[in-house]
Amino acid sequence: METPSGDFQHVPVLVEEILANLPEQPRTLLDCTLGGAGHSSALLHRCPEAQLRGGDRDPVAVDASKQRLEARFPGRTEVRQARFSELPAYLKLWGLRYDFVIADLGMSSEQLQRAERGFSFLLDGPLDMRMDPNSPDLNAAQLLRKVNEHELRRWLREYGEERNATKIARTIIEHRRTNPIRTTAELSDLVASTIPRRFHKPGFHPATLTFQALRIAVNRELEELETLLKILPDFLNPGGRMAIISFHSLEDRPVKKLFREWERPCACPTDLPYCICGKQSIGRAVNRSPIMATEAEVSDNPRSRSAKLRVFELKKSSD
Ligand SMILES: C[S@@+](CC[C@H](N)C(=O)[O-])C[C@H]1O[C@@H](n2cnc3c(N)ncnc32)[C@H](O)[C@@H]1O
Repeated sequence: METPSGDFQHVPVLVEEILANLPEQPRTLLDCTLGGAGHSSALLHRCPEAQLRGGDRDPVAVDASKQRLEARFPGRTEVRQARFSELPAYLKLWGLRYDFVIADLGMSSEQLQRAERGFSFLLDGPLDMRMDPNSPDLNAAQLLRKVNEHELRRWLREYGEERNATKIARTIIEHRRTNPIRTTAELSDLVASTIPRRFHKPGFHPATLTFQALRIAVNRELEELETLLKILPDFLNPGGRMAIISFHSLEDRPVKKLFREWERPCACPTDLPYCICGKQSIGRAVNRSPIMATEAEVSDNPRSRSAKLRVFELKKSSD
């Protein structure tokens, strides 16, 4: 799959807020979700002494980022195609620890806007949805052919928080007996016809949550996020910070939970008179509440409306 790097479409969110949360004089930067290298470029521009390493599971994003970063910041970057669960191998290879790490989760506009990637219920294309279209993983159409009704309902409930999960799952399973679903239009029309018109919300396509659920299942997004969060503290320098941007509560919840857990010095039940677990805090969540986009940003870039930024700072060696 090819896209000339100059054509890669994505406007990064919360850039000023990311820059405002950098530690002092960062020298080593890691971008786990390069996309079109918008955040990476802003970081390298702000930190002229820093080196950046980066990854993305999407080969189109990696190619675009490589070209953009090499052109603007020659000799300061190294990027690889890697999903979060493959990142540790590269992190070990690069042999660095990082002062600042960013993960800007979810999809890029580039992925969403290309019909052939199969992410959009508004553009007709093959029902693919793999962030790495060259991977041997099953695409969305193949998954829909294999999944049983119970599991499909679970995806719709858990990953889509879809109220009509039971009805939609049943309709898809019935429909595929005679007509396998191959395209995004077939799926979005089928879901839209399942939900009575009076329940369609204005300005919200009835297939939105089904597409979200399927995309999360295809790319195993929540498992990937969990893996990423677990490894990141090991690759941060003392006093280093990690910034995670999420776009829905399924992503934000584990980030918030883990940041709390890392911050808390003790995991004993609250009714124990003294600590027996010996757990120690590894740092602090920099903000109590997530940082959100300003009204001005939301009006320029509506995608930023649901973005939530959380930042965690690892203990300084002197703490
Ligand atoms: C919102 S975009 C990032 C945009 C980027 N920050 C920029 O400034 O252009 C999210 C990116 O994360 C990548 N991604 C999502 N899940 C991933 C995973 N498990 N491993 C690696 N990359 C992932 C997607 O392929 C996509 O390119």
